[in-house]
Amino acid sequence: WPLTARRVDGVLSIGGVGVTDLVAEHGTPALFMDEHDVRSRARSYASAFDDVDVYYAGKAFLCTTMARWIADEGLGLDVCTGGELAVALAAGFPAGRIALHGNNKTRAELRRAVDAGVGHVIVDSFDEIDRLALIATTAGIRQRVLVRVTVGVEAHTHEFIATAHEDQKFGFSLRDGVAERAVAQVLASDWLELAGLHSHIGSQIFDTAGFEVAAHRVVGLAARIRDAHGVEVGELDLGGGLGIAYVSGDDPQTPKQTVDRLVSIVERECAAAGLRVPRLSVEPGRAIVGPSTITVYEIGTVKQVALDGGLTRTYVSVDGGMSDNIRTALYDAEYTCLLANRESAAAPTPARVVGKHCESGDIVVRDAWLPSDIAPGDLLAVAATGAYCRSMASNYNHVPRPPVVAVREGRASVLLRRETEDDLLRLDVGIG
Ligand code: LLP
Repeated sequence: WPLTARRVDGVLSIGGVGVTDLVAEHGTPALFMDEHDVRSRARSYASAFDDVDVYYAGKAFLCTTMARWIADEGLGLDVCTGGELAVALAAGFPAGRIALHGNNKTRAELRRAVDAGVGHVIVDSFDEIDRLALIATTAGIRQRVLVRVTVGVEAHTHEFIATAHEDQKFGFSLRDGVAERAVAQVLASDWLELAGLHSHIGSQIFDTAGFEVAAHRVVGLAARIRDAHGVEVGELDLGGGLGIAYVSGDDPQTPKQTVDRLVSIVERECAAAGLRVPRLSVEPGRAIVGPSTITVYEIGTVKQVALDGGLTRTYVSVDGGMSDNIRTALYDAEYTCLLANRESAAAPTPARVVGKHCESGDIVVRDAWLPSDIAPGDLLAVAATGAYCRSMASNYNHVPRPPVVAVREGRASVLLRRETEDDLLRLDVGIG
């Protein structure tokens, strides 16, 4: 059970409140987030190393309260759309600590970011550099930028495939002088300031080998920039992607171990290239918010399905599904779940937790072991749903999105309320 929630008198409890009490007040499905867990992970990244800047990747989960926690704990914020920027600004997040990402930022998004005074824009295409230079020039604001490079490393869950990933949409290739041309284009504008270089190799990574290759290649580019332009790159952002435990056997490093390792890799590479060590930054999303949250569902039906070989599988249907957690269907993600409202001595049986949506791929937990007496009305908690579940939620089948409720020291407060059918119907202009 890879998370902060614990059983108290048989009932799962998070942030000092029993799940049955939380559900009595907030209903199901719902995401319950341990505020202390989020804040302490954010703090341990921020304090892992004095000279490393940490930007929380808001795509993992963002709302105004979350943005305020992140600001309180001293982190920066990575946003990748105008929508995420709007949430950050609505929360009063200090603009100078915001970094704007995206491979297709619109003029309006760039203009808003420049006007707001965001700290960095991470540029991703030649078109964008032109667009941003024009906007900065017109506004008379000198905008700091990082140039995102594609280091040719594809990170998977437990491995990486070097050189494999040129063929995707992000960044400037290190091949054929493409990244050098992007840097030259930035340097050519009086209103853009080359703050540094950026690389993001992927997500849910446990092995730092991929970061070593990335650092080696980005530092190599920094050396070529110095030789060609006499400019030392001031900042190196190695992106996010640090893995968390979803099931037993996943073994993530601590923030301190991870950041120390990245710092030593960059120091070694810079020493080898004869470069001053740039300021390092990282952008963890999942590693800050992922483990903090459980999604609690109510079980509606339990069905035995005969498999070949005389076996049966128990299909446990819950009142949410792929609309609140698309990750199992989309990435074959693995999750851990347990019976939350009571303890059971019944023998564990192989089960599959499925949602209420109209397709058979609507699976929440593909392979679970649940007590054989599990029944309609029981509550089921799925662990580690803080990242990329609510933020990727949809209204498929017109199912309203669940609330996110923070719990801390025995008190619960709603961060995002439950969507209603009225919320959905409000968009439907056909209603007389
Ligand atoms: N920085 C950049 C530039 C990114 O593209 C991402 C994630 C992050 C930071 C944060 O990565 P994290 O530390 O959270 O792994 N929806 C997928 C994950 C996609 C991540 C996209 N970019 C999932 O549910 O696993």
